[in-house]
Amino acid sequence: MRVLVTGGTNGMGKGVARALAARDDARHEIIILGRSSERGESTVHEIQSATRNTNLSFVKCDLAGLGDVKRAIAEIRAEKRSLDGVFINAGLGYAAEREETEDGMVAHFQVNYLSQFMLTLHLLDLLERSERGGRVVFNVTRGGSISWDDMQMKKKWSYQAGIQQAMVAKRMFYGRLHDLSRRAGDVRTSFYGFEIPKTVWSNQVNIIPGTMRAMATVVKWFGGFISIDECGEIMAPLFLEDQATSLQRSGRFITSTKGRFVEREDVAAVSDRALQERLWNISLDLCNDDDTRRIANALIERAQSQHEVPPT
Ligand SMILES: NC(=O)c1ccc[n+]([C@@H]2O[C@H](COP(=O)([O-])OP(=O)(O)OC[C@H]3O[C@@H](n4cnc5c(N)ncnc54)[C@H](OP(=O)(O)O)[C@@H]3O)[C@@H](O)[C@H]2O)c1
Repeated sequence: MRVLVTGGTNGMGKGVARALAARDDARHEIIILGRSSERGESTVHEIQSATRNTNLSFVKCDLAGLGDVKRAIAEIRAEKRSLDGVFINAGLGYAAEREETEDGMVAHFQVNYLSQFMLTLHLLDLLERSERGGRVVFNVTRGGSISWDDMQMKKKWSYQAGIQQAMVAKRMFYGRLHDLSRRAGDVRTSFYGFEIPKTVWSNQVNIIPGTMRAMATVVKWFGGFISIDECGEIMAPLFLEDQATSLQRSGRFITSTKGRFVEREDVAAVSDRALQERLWNISLDLCNDDDTRRIANALIERAQSQHEVPPT
């Protein structure tokens, strides 16, 4: 399997990258995407020496800049003909104040959602070429809402609301991708969300204020966290399971309980096709990129020209 992990330099992404790199006699290829070359290279070396897997590489991409995302897309596409899996994971957590990206968007919206919306669309044909059946797993949590009239949160901002808005946006995005790709006749790629059932002790703990860190430490004593390696062990099977099983998850919101993957319900607004389309169109406008729009339009045209395929 060849799997791309966004935000693979820390936390859950690193845990998943390491677990996948170690599996099946270290034969899977892992591409780590992150914003820091230094952390990227040290993560690759660390995982290589821990797993003896030499099939690891790093793609530098700062998701806070759409220009950098486009450059990274070109790099991936120039080097790889196909992809078997993508983990849409990178994300900002705690922030003391609202930050804007170079593209003028609130950072949580762009980093956690929009840039990865653009990235995913540009990787669809690589995923379709997967012999194992491509899959895109979105790291999501339940809850949240879209501030439709203030998506950039200029009037009202909190870092929690920023994270949650991006979570809802990702859930709506995989729902629409599933829907459109099935109608377009792609019955090989799966798109779904996964919620880790327990909080992961990630790099986030290092950047939260001292009082929050002290509380987290107490919670950790009582077993309230899992490590990034435990997270990786829980999630790795999602990238390695057979195509038929993966396709059954497509369009759904999955979690893990007692060692089994189970579906959880999502709120109606997330699967509302009109709202999904509204967010899709806003996202395309914000990407403001002809190639991204062309890919999106081609998918919609294919979906409209085919007969609807019953959900798997
Ligand atoms: N921890 C949990 O319990 C939990 C539970 C559910 C969902 N999540 C979600 O999981 C995702 C990962 O969180 P985490 O807890 O593992 O946090 P983390 O340890 O801080 O890892 C975040 C990853 O995203 C990368 N990243 C941040 N900004 C970026 C940017 N501008 N461009 C490219 N990469 C960027 C980070 O890179 P650097 O190494 O350079 O910082 C890091 O690799 C987030 O979306 C979070 O909301 C976390």
